[in-house]
Amino acid sequence: MAKRRGGHGPGPGHGHEKRERRDPEKDRERNEQFHDRVAGKYDTMYTGAYWDAYFHLSWEGIRPHIPQDLRAPLVDLGCGTGLYGLRLLKSGYPVTFVDLSQKMLDQAQAKAEALGPRTQGLATFVKADLADLSALPDGRFALAVAQGDPISHAGERAPRALRECARILAPGGVLIASVDNTLAAVDHYLEDGDVPGLESLLRSGLTDWLAHDESERFRVRMFRPDEIRTLCREAGLEVIDLFGKPVLPLRRHAALLEDERAGEALLKIERRLCREEAMLGRASHLQVAARKPLG
Ligand SMILES: C[S@@+](CC[C@H](N)C(=O)[O-])C[C@H]1O[C@@H](n2cnc3c(N)ncnc32)[C@H](O)[C@@H]1O
Repeated sequence: MAKRRGGHGPGPGHGHEKRERRDPEKDRERNEQFHDRVAGKYDTMYTGAYWDAYFHLSWEGIRPHIPQDLRAPLVDLGCGTGLYGLRLLKSGYPVTFVDLSQKMLDQAQAKAEALGPRTQGLATFVKADLADLSALPDGRFALAVAQGDPISHAGERAPRALRECARILAPGGVLIASVDNTLAAVDHYLEDGDVPGLESLLRSGLTDWLAHDESERFRVRMFRPDEIRTLCREAGLEVIDLFGKPVLPLRRHAALLEDERAGEALLKIERRLCREEAMLGRASHLQVAARKPLG
């Protein structure tokens, strides 16, 4: 999650007209290459008061959906270095860690092993693309976490990734996914005077991950709030929560978060506003919780 304007990474790109026809397989390779390269330093890339608040708000959105039964299998999709999956593992749940990047999985696995015998046998590591989770069975997981926007990173295959997430959930199971918000990228296009790029983004939701090295740029699918709701429904999931993350411009005003009193007050305001429909457009990310029906 490096320096993307309004997002976790390097940034939405432009020149979409030129890049309209792209090979999704090439995008997958670039995505994997980028994440393999940053895996070793990933944990140092998102530190400080803003990211602490961001991860805290993300976790608050996950916590109410964690099953009571410690035997329920959980999955961390696009696990990266394991931020969320390890937390669940430490609580005693069996957790499957999934990532496109072997180097990210290696980081997560080393941390899981360092937890010692208490969690032994509870962690499984699977290298897979969210758009093809054929290594995982139907109907298995009570909770699937997909944080840090791996569904967006699936680019043109994001709808397929969402269907795969739905397939591996047990009836009644919940997916909690963070995705990039299209509306957060609008200013960026205007600042660059890129009106065709903006038109293309609004038409397709697709942009480029602006890695510094061009060979690591891959397609990212952004969503407007109603688009992610619709895609969840089309994947057979019922949306039970949707909030902006964050809806206040906390990144720009991160210094305020460092002051304990101001920080707490701001987070209180953030929690109060983050589910208001009118505020969703301001958010850099959207966090959705969607349940697979029981019957
Ligand atoms: C921004 S990181 C987030 C890591 C972790 N979930 C977190 O929130 O700290 C995104 C992760 O998703 C993985 N990823 C991206 N696209 C993916 C895909 N199509 N399938 C599986 N993993 C993917 C990347 O390799 C990376 O580890």
